[in-house]
Amino acid sequence: MKNLTQSPAWLALQAHYDDIKDIHMKELFAEDEQRFDKFSIHANEVMLDYSKNRINQQTMPLLFDLARQSNLSKWRDELFSGVAINATEGRSVLHSALRNRSNQPVMVDGQDVMPKVRVVLDQMRQFSELVRSGKWRGYNGHRIKSIVNIGIGGSDLGPHVVCDALKPFAQHDLDAYFVSNVDASDILETLKKVDPETTLFIIASKTFTTQETMLNAFSARKWFLDQVGDEKAIAKHFVAVTTNIELATEFGINKANTFAFWDWVGGRYSLWSAIGLSIAVYLGMDHFEELLEGAEEMDQHFREAPLEENIPVVMALLGVWYDDFFAAKTHAIIPYSQYLARLPAFLQQLDMESNGKTIDRNGQRVDYSTGPVIWGQAGTNGQHAFFQLIHQGTQLIPADFLISALSHQPLSTHQRVLFSNCLAQTKALMLGKTHAEVLDEMKQQGFDDESIEKISPHKVFEGNKPTNTIIFEQLTPKSLGSILAMYEQKVFVQGVIWNINSYDQWGVEYGKVLAGKILEDLNVPGDVDGHDSSTNGLINYRKKIYFNDSNESTLD
Ligand code: F6P
Repeated sequence: MKNLTQSPAWLALQAHYDDIKDIHMKELFAEDEQRFDKFSIHANEVMLDYSKNRINQQTMPLLFDLARQSNLSKWRDELFSGVAINATEGRSVLHSALRNRSNQPVMVDGQDVMPKVRVVLDQMRQFSELVRSGKWRGYNGHRIKSIVNIGIGGSDLGPHVVCDALKPFAQHDLDAYFVSNVDASDILETLKKVDPETTLFIIASKTFTTQETMLNAFSARKWFLDQVGDEKAIAKHFVAVTTNIELATEFGINKANTFAFWDWVGGRYSLWSAIGLSIAVYLGMDHFEELLEGAEEMDQHFREAPLEENIPVVMALLGVWYDDFFAAKTHAIIPYSQYLARLPAFLQQLDMESNGKTIDRNGQRVDYSTGPVIWGQAGTNGQHAFFQLIHQGTQLIPADFLISALSHQPLSTHQRVLFSNCLAQTKALMLGKTHAEVLDEMKQQGFDDESIEKISPHKVFEGNKPTNTIIFEQLTPKSLGSILAMYEQKVFVQGVIWNINSYDQWGVEYGKVLAGKILEDLNVPGDVDGHDSSTNGLINYRKKIYFNDSNESTLD
């Protein structure tokens, strides 16, 4: 689509926006008692209630027209069948093959990739069972008690969110730690908690060249060798997950302890691959496979459900509706689950690294927004932090609320209180409170006229703030797999509509190159002047405070 904003579907939506923008959702609810039934859909364990959105009966058909106009079904077929839709890197995008539990082949360049996917799954099963059963012993015969995943971005966020979310399924005598930041405090604070005799380091890096991961891995290796003193012991305590087996071997990791994946798995889509090794060890391979099954169920739903009943499609289109027509700048993710506290961080990379693009697939600058800022934190904590702005601030902030019907922790009334808070917020955001309602309320509470006049405007809530509620029976490997895949496919659909490549990340690469050049300048004595004045000034300021031309040691 050359001119998306001039296309018939877009123009129809623009006209519809002008009609609907001042309609309050509470009127729409009052007019139609069936609104919840009409605007809620299921996919196996997951239910999406999207009735609290700024939509009427005309809106969704117009959004579905936009999806059809973008050839969504053609792109979806290409995604699943291994066409190299990541055109700027010449790669297929096949994380769905990693969770393909059927016997169906998935072809890339004329070859079925499923046999090698299964080989790695078997290797993960064998290894994780050895570690979990205690048959895998450390260099001096102790069983493994701690695993430390060293990775960043997709090599951290995916396994991290899953291990946190599914803690109730973890083996009680194993601890899982995640080190990602190149800030030495991350690795050092983690190393304080573990013992070299009982620790397994999983170096997770698609490229095995990422600066942060490699520095953390070398620091962990030095810490280990300083205490153990025997290079041969590394084989028992360091394993790697990477597409770059050669570099992992150079690092000193036994080839047999290296877990492969492939260039058709994007970093932020890689938790389903061997990057999920920490999940398999911490939660067990059966649970890892249930996670894959949940994701596959969502993939099936995404492939087969008509647009009208398709959860990722509906969520994507609602996102486009707010982003491009209501000019919403951000989108909040509020899981009402402490176990899902890391979900916003995971979705930040998934969504913003995928769709944070200004150049479309034809190489043209887009004249529309391609995605909001994703942010959020667990409820109810968020209520006592930023909800004020969502309720009464000047910006429109669409939000996803996620909640399970059942908790793993049936402690007194906690889950019911959590649930009631979640629903109370979406209700308040939708309904708002009028000035007349505030006046009545204040009169009943016995305020005098002067106070009522002064304070009442501050108590008005406009309401009409859109939310999705995503509800599932319980947070299990399966439901979590479905939820994460649901967001992945939502991001894909939006990329199709915006006509961008959701699977490259050149913007991140640029910073990596510049960091290398600045590091070189920090390593030499004297002032530098080869950058802009701000960058020069900051480098020189740092060097005045501290300069050391040998490598600064973080571990001495
Ligand atoms: O942040 C950029 C990025 O390339 C991500 O896409 C990726 O998840 C991360 O770096 C880590 O890369 P690697 O797994 O190669 O260390």
